[in-house]
Amino acid sequence: MKYQVPRGTQDYFGVEIEKIDYIFNVFKEIVSLYNFKKIKTPVFEDASLFTRSIGEGSEIVTKQMYTFKDRAGRLLALRPEGTAPVVRAVIADNLLKNLPLKLYYIGEMFRYERPQKDRRREFLQMGAEIFGGKEAVFDVELVEISSKIFKKLGIQYTLKINYIGCINCRTDYTQNLKRHLKKKLKLLCEDCRQRFEKNVLRVFDCKNPQCQKVFSDFPTITQNLCEDCRQNFEKIKSLLDAKKIKYEVAEKLVRGLDYYNGFVFEFFTSGIRDAIGAGGRYDSLVEELGGRPTPACGFAIGVERILPVVKFEKKREGFLIAGIGISEEKLEELADFLRENFKKAFVFRKKKISDALKFASDENFLYAIIIGEDELKEGVYSVKNLYTGEQKKLKKEEILKL
Ligand code: HAM
Repeated sequence: MKYQVPRGTQDYFGVEIEKIDYIFNVFKEIVSLYNFKKIKTPVFEDASLFTRSIGEGSEIVTKQMYTFKDRAGRLLALRPEGTAPVVRAVIADNLLKNLPLKLYYIGEMFRYERPQKDRRREFLQMGAEIFGGKEAVFDVELVEISSKIFKKLGIQYTLKINYIGCINCRTDYTQNLKRHLKKKLKLLCEDCRQRFEKNVLRVFDCKNPQCQKVFSDFPTITQNLCEDCRQNFEKIKSLLDAKKIKYEVAEKLVRGLDYYNGFVFEFFTSGIRDAIGAGGRYDSLVEELGGRPTPACGFAIGVERILPVVKFEKKREGFLIAGIGISEEKLEELADFLRENFKKAFVFRKKKISDALKFASDENFLYAIIIGEDELKEGVYSVKNLYTGEQKKLKKEEILKL
């Protein structure tokens, strides 16, 4: 029997995995400039960690979570996202001592979605979280970092932002919204009826035109913010303006995870329907999961979503060594010399020089060193730059300076 990869997953190899590594490096380089430190959490957690944080009624929990019982009967889940595990870790490992604490992670997430090009069942996320930063500058920092990452990767993006209020403005607002919708429940789709029960704000997330009609005339939470929230949102927008980061206020943007409050955002690029990155503030999550009250915010970028639009050129590097009538020992001697000096070196063992040059080009070597008996006698090597075609005769030590 021939096995296929499970639906919604894929193997990565060749140039594609190099592109992914390049994306990871750009991400690490940029978050490190802002003093983010790496954290790694397990791929599976107690399922209830996600139910409590992302929300019992959320699509991720109700439809997309990979849960399983281990041999001792514990209900575990493959992580569908990285924020809740990081919050669990900072509480469990007592990391909330020196605030603000800035952490980043890169890893596989799992969601049982209907697989499409940009919706995978196993996907890679690069995320960053800030703990202990209450002020607007922290929200803006997340947007700035994401936009720098996209720019460095050559991605043209659009940014949607919104503000979904604090507990105070939300309580009044959701009561009013519920009152409004109660009379029209029959017109709503099954999902929205569930949202009505579990987290009514999320009805705005519904794409169903019939549902959209029901609440289209109802004022959004953004139009009902308390004075503190309104001022904070204005501050965030003014900081974004000062940093010349363009955005669009999307009053219906509420995000699909329950832990958010306050500022939320999503990045898009043309040709990809879903967000390429998203985040926001989640000031009560640390406390809800048993830690001391700590404001927090973060974002995550979906690697598979940006992969097709990232500009990446594979770097040519290293030396391919081939010889005509030269002993293995001599070829190995040069290769070892180069490797000892941290230069990539590869000995091509077939006889034909044309094959050697083709292989070097296919494998993206920058130089080919073809050794003949004359070269050995003279102690100089003829080194060909496969990119420019230039050929030079160089001594061993001179090769290192290339
Ligand atoms: P999210 O919006 O669920 O937020 O996911 C963040 C990003 O992960 C999305 O914008 C998308 O790029 C990518 N993504 C999500 N699902 C898939 C999928 N099935 N296939 C491919 N890519 C996907 C979160 O996960 C939050 N934890 C973000 C956050 C961090 N908020 C605060 N801190």
